[in-house]
Parts: sequence; C-alpha cells; structure tokens
Amino acid sequence: MASSQSGHADYCNPALYEATRRHVEQAVTLPPDSYRDEEFYRVERQRVWARSWVAVGYECQVPNAGDCITVEVADQPLFVLRDRSGGLRAFYNVCRHRGSRLLKQHGNCKVIRCPYHGWGYSLEGQLLGTPYFKGLDVPAGMAEKFAIADGVAEDFCKDDYPLLAVRCERWAGIIFVNLDDAAMPLAEWLGDLPQRYARHPLAELKLVRRRDYRIGANWKLIAENFMEYYHLPWGHPELCNISGFDNHWRYQGPGMYCGMCTSPLSDDPNTLTVDLPPFTELTYTESKSAYFVHLFPNISLWIFPHHFLTLLFRPSGPATTLEHVDMLVHPDVLTRPGIDESLDRIMKFWCFVNDQDVELVEGVQAGVAARAYRGGRLCYRFEEPIHRFQNMLIDLMT
Ligand code: FES
Repeated sequence: MASSQSGHADYCNPALYEATRRHVEQAVTLPPDSYRDEEFYRVERQRVWARSWVAVGYECQVPNAGDCITVEVADQPLFVLRDRSGGLRAFYNVCRHRGSRLLKQHGNCKVIRCPYHGWGYSLEGQLLGTPYFKGLDVPAGMAEKFAIADGVAEDFCKDDYPLLAVRCERWAGIIFVNLDDAAMPLAEWLGDLPQRYARHPLAELKLVRRRDYRIGANWKLIAENFMEYYHLPWGHPELCNISGFDNHWRYQGPGMYCGMCTSPLSDDPNTLTVDLPPFTELTYTESKSAYFVHLFPNISLWIFPHHFLTLLFRPSGPATTLEHVDMLVHPDVLTRPGIDESLDRIMKFWCFVNDQDVELVEGVQAGVAARAYRGGRLCYRFEEPIHRFQNMLIDLMT
C-alpha cells in the first residue's frame, strides 16, 4: 500500500484506488480504511467535504429577512441567512474581533450581534458597530472614562473586517454551501437534475416533518445503501410492496449524482396509503414513479409524485453520522382535513424503512472493522451507482 512520510497510507495517491477504478464488472470496492480510519477521515474532510457543494438545509427554513440557521461543513462552523433583499448568504460563524462564535442556534436577527463585546454586522456581512473600540459608538461624555484617547487600535477601519463569506447557492429549495472558492458552480455540479425535475415543484415545498438520527456508521455506507436496491428483498420486504424489486431502473445523466427510479409504483393499502394529490404538472409516467437520487456528497432525495423525502447528513467521525430524515409537501395540502394524521402516517412508514437501513449500515460498519476484509466486488445491475459514487470520491481524494 502506498504510504505517506507520516507512516499513514497515502490516501491521495491514485495507486491506492487502482482496483476500484476498474470497470464496474472487475472493480473492487473502496479500501476498507475509507470507512474506519481516522487519518482517512481527516484527509477526506479537506479533500472532499471542503471542496464539494454540501447541502445544509432548505429555503423554507429561512423565509424572512434575518432568518438564519447554523450549520457545520468539514468541521467548520457556518451560518446561512436570508438578507434584506431576499437573497441567501452564508458566513463563517466567527466574529472578526477575537473570534467568538456569533450565532448559537437558529433564529431571526435584525443585525448579527457578537455576544462577547457587542460588535454588530449587517445581514449582508458588513461590520456596522464596534462599541467603545477606537472611540466609535461611545456615548457622549464617556470618552474619558474609557480612556479612549490613549487606548485606540491604530489604523483600524471597519470596512476591513466584514464577516467571512462562504459560497452559497440553491436548487429545488435546498441550500448548498461550498468552502472552496475555486469549485465549479452548483449548476455544473447538478448536471441535468434541474431539467429532469422541472415539473416537480420542489422549490415550493415546505418542511413538515423531521426526525434526527445518530448512526453508528460511516457516511459513505449510508449513501451507498441508499443508491442500490439489491438489499430490498431482505432488508425491506414491506417497501417492496409499493416499490417493487423488478420495477427498479437506472436513472442517470451527467452531474454529481447517482440515480435510480421505481416505475411504476405499486398500490398496497396494507403497506402505505398516501392520500395526497399528485403534483399538477407531472407527465403520466412521473405521476406513477418515484425517483431516488443521491446528490454527492450528503443528500439523498426520494422524489415521489406527491411528496419529497430527503436524508440530509454529515459525518461526525469516521464511524458516526448525524442524519435528518426530512419530509416536504406542497403548502396547498396543509389545509386539507386530517392532514396531520396523514403526514404522521406517511412519515412513520418512511422512518420504519429508515430504521431498517440504519440497522443494515451499522452492521456493515461492524463488519468492515475486520482487518481480514480487503474490499468486495460489485454487480453491474444493482451496484453501478455505488461504483459511480466511489469514483466521485476518488476523483476528489486524488
Ligand atoms: Fe466578537 Fe469581541 S469577539 S466582539
């Protein structure tokens, strides 16, 4: 194995991935250290997470000027807010004075006020006020008390200390950030997804249910589990009643995603009844199909004809992941009689399916701890999306 000077395997060396780079029918899965090793996790954070378009939330979470959410990407504290002109902005969650965290949690603010010494920033990131600092903002008659005349910061100009901005873009109502100023635009990252889902009103949907998971598995195992249906007969017999094993198809185009679909969906009232109307602009085929898209690195989309489910996750260690299961629906359905019971019932079923997946991926995490395991083989019919995903990861790692 290629080693770095520090004694670790050199996880940026293309030679390490030669077996995974082969055509899918000959390929071996990623080196098992990718799922368990601290050093791999450290390098991956810099090479993958700090250079990708990472999903962090939804536009509907910040509908009004000043609404903000705190998020974390590649261990970096950030926040996203709605500015006064209705745009989205992302900033590092750090004050330009002595580095305090600015925002502790989601909320709404007219200005962003540092809790430490009160510096204030506009919603556009401009430094507005620095109380008592260099005599600025000192109430009349207080200058002597604060010894301003002989204690000033020299050559200090507020314009030199705006909030530190991060790239922030949106698609389908999802907010993405990218720590890398040189990364490709989000539109290029998405490939043909905007065209594929042009008739699904994803950007209009509202987040109506969320369940949080702490999963004892590497984030890549969660993504890989999502994008193959080989495990359905054994892992999800109930799901097969509505998303038939033999009704799955590849659904792939250009872009940083791995897709498949179920067409047509099956009706089985004993398994799940979705009493929501289908989106109005769909083609006949779309109104009978579900699309499953994992958008690299961290959001899995379940696009149904009448609702939208996502797995939004981030790694919290080499073998642990924090995940939200989120359900979004069109606001028009929220006034329907009995809607809360309907949403609860639908969400309960998807969490039941997700609970099954969590048990499976935690089982894989336990298994890949075995040093004797050197990686496995892939089957084109079911696991080509995993091969595609692993090659995306290698592209960024190397
Ligand atoms: Fe923010 Fe001092 S650290 S005002």
